[in-house]
Amino acid sequence: MAYLADKNRYEGMQYRRCGGSGLKLSAMSLGLWHGFGSENVYDNGKDMILAAFDSGITHFDLANNYGPVPGSAEETFGKVLKRELKAHRDEMVIATKAGYEMWPGPYGDGGSRKYLTASLDQSLKRMGLGYVDIFYHHRPDPETPPEETAETLAGFVAAGKALYVGISNYDGPGTKKMAGLLREKGVRCLIHQMRYSMLSRENEPVLSVLEEEKIGGIAFSPLAQGILTGKYRNGIPADSRAAGKSIFLSGKDITESVAKLTEELTKLAGERGQTLSQMALAWVLSRKAVTSVILGASRPEQIGENIRALAHLEFEQEELGRIEAILAGA
Ligand SMILES: NC(=O)c1ccc[n+]([C@@H]2O[C@H](COP(=O)([O-])OP(=O)(O)OC[C@H]3O[C@@H](n4cnc5c(N)ncnc54)[C@H](OP(=O)(O)O)[C@@H]3O)[C@@H](O)[C@H]2O)c1
Repeated sequence: MAYLADKNRYEGMQYRRCGGSGLKLSAMSLGLWHGFGSENVYDNGKDMILAAFDSGITHFDLANNYGPVPGSAEETFGKVLKRELKAHRDEMVIATKAGYEMWPGPYGDGGSRKYLTASLDQSLKRMGLGYVDIFYHHRPDPETPPEETAETLAGFVAAGKALYVGISNYDGPGTKKMAGLLREKGVRCLIHQMRYSMLSRENEPVLSVLEEEKIGGIAFSPLAQGILTGKYRNGIPADSRAAGKSIFLSGKDITESVAKLTEELTKLAGERGQTLSQMALAWVLSRKAVTSVILGASRPEQIGENIRALAHLEFEQEELGRIEAILAGA
């Protein structure tokens, strides 16, 4: 049966301005890092994308290397777009990235004009798009002059291949430098994508740079890859990411102190009328520099649960203090 988008999809979502730009992003975005590759079940990926769109998520986060196999998440997304969401392309903000190794040899990695140009062309082909809304340099490349990367990103905007550009995993000084170089070329650094959650605070210094530079912040792994759902409190569920679905999270990450901490945070979330995942997402969204959080999911119901975080985003000072005390005891 043909997909019909939910008529009420814009009612429950918040749309927040991305830094100093004209673009608003849904407070929650959907990331296609895990669960959408050719080794995953197509229908489940499709159902997650449609569940997200029906819930008011307009922003979809991809990268050249998402899969497995690398490139296949873009292909899945392109297929869903063509078959189900074609009529809604202009309601969507589609992002992709390049910066990690994508193909062998010296031109399949880094930040050179050669790599980024070929990669964006490949991404557009895989997704069946004429342009992406956001193109990111996925990580800094110490071997390429930042001027070359900035010039290439600005060139994508001039050529109409990307409407906006951003950076990911850059530190504070690197962010300032790239924002300045793009500005010189007449292009705004729209957005900065970084790991940020209650359990990953290393990028807090970058948040203040984003405020100064009027760059929107977007947080990846806001649930610490699932740890902040509390699902690992009593061991490792067989169908979870830590059970061998990913090389990025393993049983070794699920320590006793993590289990104890999620137990205590779950109790506090319950007092707020939330699940732990909802409180953890609300906490990230309460940071001033954060425009949106990128949800990962392995089934549509997780998206539904997580989106209900929007019903209670505010924190009392006392709650924030209790969260800090729990995290400090970890
Ligand atoms: N720029 C970068 O370098 C970079 C790096 C990493 C990620 N990202 C982006 O950020 C996105 C999100 O990252 P992430 O997947 O690590 O995010 P996350 O939200 O921290 O973790 C998502 C995982 O947690 C579990 N989960 C989520 N909600 C749940 C719920 N309500 N109940 C139970 N389990 C739940 C699911 O895993 P299981 O069910 O499989 O356990 C899900 O796949 C990625 O898709 C990607 O777009 C970017």
